[in-house]
Amino acid sequence: MKEKISSILNEALKAVAAASTLESLDAARVKYLGKKGDLTAILKGMGALTPDERKEVGLLANEARSKIEEEISSHHQQLTKILLEQKLLSESIDVTMPGKSFPTGKKHPLNQVLEEIKEIFLGMGFDMVEGPEVELDYYNFEALNIPKDHPARDTQDTFYISDNVVLRTQTSPVQIRTMEQRKPPIRIIAPGMVYRSDAVDATHSPVFHQIEGLVVDKNVTMSDLKGTLDDFAKRLYGEDTITRFRPHHFPFTEPSAEMDIQCFTCKGEGCRLCKGEGWIEILGCGMVHPKVLETCKIDPEEYSGFAFGLGLERIAMRRFNIDDMRLIYENDKRFLKQF
Ligand code: DAH
Repeated sequence: MKEKISSILNEALKAVAAASTLESLDAARVKYLGKKGDLTAILKGMGALTPDERKEVGLLANEARSKIEEEISSHHQQLTKILLEQKLLSESIDVTMPGKSFPTGKKHPLNQVLEEIKEIFLGMGFDMVEGPEVELDYYNFEALNIPKDHPARDTQDTFYISDNVVLRTQTSPVQIRTMEQRKPPIRIIAPGMVYRSDAVDATHSPVFHQIEGLVVDKNVTMSDLKGTLDDFAKRLYGEDTITRFRPHHFPFTEPSAEMDIQCFTCKGEGCRLCKGEGWIEILGCGMVHPKVLETCKIDPEEYSGFAFGLGLERIAMRRFNIDDMRLIYENDKRFLKQF
């Protein structure tokens, strides 16, 4: 029996040492120490022994049991440590691996410029308003001092929906709608899409964007117009921007002008960008025509105002050095990614 015990002990210690998982370790415990285990079987068979033998065998069996239990417990500790290390290792993050990138969209260059311009005018105390793109002839032309036989109609190749309804050729009708709805002081900008029956090329599109501006109050003068628009140009293009106002003609303003900025590439010398002019046209503007004020039931004796209109595409093209307007509308990702 003593031999049996020592061989069970040997076998058990080997099995415990060989266990590489917690499951196989537990299986070894059950096999040798469990209720139906090998060592328990020995203890159960002790009834046939003499009291002295029983004492001796019992002692040996208990020693063997403690020995096996100790081994199991220390092996258990070791195993859990190893298993934890393996788990941590398999879950560790390799910070040198390339990450997954989630490409984000960006603002369209036209919207970037629009937002910049909006910020500038909102900062000066202007409100933003909108008007319809399908517009009455009355607002697009008539009320802006462009009657049916006026030559200015020829320069704006108009899409007619019916005799009295057009796709607006300019954002200027929003001036009229605003003056009908609000009393002075008025300070608004009105960005939006406009339509002209133009053939598509590098500088023309049948759909493009304008931003209209209108200020009406008591004692508004040409000097307010110049100060405001010069300040605008400096905020958009930089503090050292030089502007000039050239006389021009628009039916709804009197006097009318176009504002140029001095070419920032050649500083007025003349280069490819400004086509040798030294100056670049930025916008049309003028003092609101008294007839237009009257049409909107604003007394031109009491109030005066100035207005301006600028083309968004042209400003964006200049800002980002885009040489073909078609690129702006094609939404080619290779183009859009650059902004
Ligand atoms: N509506 C004009 C155009 O499309 C631009 C313009 C010029 C707007 C002078 C204005 C202005 O408000 O005062 O050509």
